[in-house]
Amino acid sequence: MTTPDYPIELPLRKINSGKVREIYDAREGNILIVTSDRLSAFDVIMNDPIPGKGLVLNGMSLFWYDRFADRVPNALLERDPHKMECLRGVDDGTLEALKGRTVLMRRAQVFPVECIVRGYIIGSGWKDYGATGTICGIPLPKGLRKADKLPDPLFTPSTKAEEGHDENISFEQVESLIGPVHASKIRDNALALYEEAAEYARTRGIIIADTKFEFGLIGGEVMLIDEVLTPDSSRFWPADRVVPGENPPSYDKQIVRDWLENSGWDKTPPPPKLPEEIIAKTSAAYHEIFEKLTN
Ligand SMILES: Nc1ncnc2c1ncn2[C@@H]1O[C@H](COP(=O)(O)OP(=O)(O)OP(=O)(O)O)[C@@H](O)[C@H]1O
Ligand SMILES: [Mg+2]
Repeated sequence: MTTPDYPIELPLRKINSGKVREIYDAREGNILIVTSDRLSAFDVIMNDPIPGKGLVLNGMSLFWYDRFADRVPNALLERDPHKMECLRGVDDGTLEALKGRTVLMRRAQVFPVECIVRGYIIGSGWKDYGATGTICGIPLPKGLRKADKLPDPLFTPSTKAEEGHDENISFEQVESLIGPVHASKIRDNALALYEEAAEYARTRGIIIADTKFEFGLIGGEVMLIDEVLTPDSSRFWPADRVVPGENPPSYDKQIVRDWLENSGWDKTPPPPKLPEEIIAKTSAAYHEIFEKLTN
């Protein structure tokens, strides 16, 4: 699988270059989002792209957008670069390089809230529970083990920090940030989408331990935006390999994280060069979860 050089030159004004995505002004209130093969770990972008990763992230988001279309409106307009008006006149080679990793979306007024849903207890939730018996202040039964299923999925929002790390906030804080009506709406949407996706994934042998959604306003309506239920925004576990009390293996950048942890790198830029084997394994992991979930 080829990895195009980034950034691809386009005759559009670039609005933002995120850790993973390039965002362009597509005019008429729309944006063009190009998902690269970049991988960030410990908030640092690796120098080595992961072949096909952008195709997997974009393909998975589109899969879920289609699946959820009846339930929650979304900002997606077009997925085929050849049909995008804003790319008219762009040469075929460039359009082919964009294909499968590019979407045209309506530009939303993004709510400054990361809508995190947790169905299992792991990561920062597990740490929080150990220290306080709660996750983000939500009380939980005693005696839960690491990687246990939670009695009910939890909505544990955080801020969307422009710089630095996101911070957990209470539902009341979400209400004061964006108003009670929108707060309830994004919470209910996030929980409903998680539950539907988790139930479907279970039929394919996959547990979705947790995930993060983003929503925004377009013409006064709350819409689903950004990436949806990808390995970068979610923890996916092979259901048959989850043992309560242990860290489950995951289909994502954990391979890179583990290698980095053992490399002696101090987690400040520049990152070390990733070995070919780690790049290949990570690429295979992204492709495997994509195929398992979507066929
Ligand atoms: N329809 C949309 N309207 C407006 N903004 C959007 C829309 N869809 C996605 N976005 C924004 O585009 C950005 C996606 O870029 P990217 O994922 O690379 O960067 P990031 O989320 O800022 O950083 P990172 O994910 O690495 O923490 C997000 O900030 C997201 O909120
Ligand atoms: Mg993002």
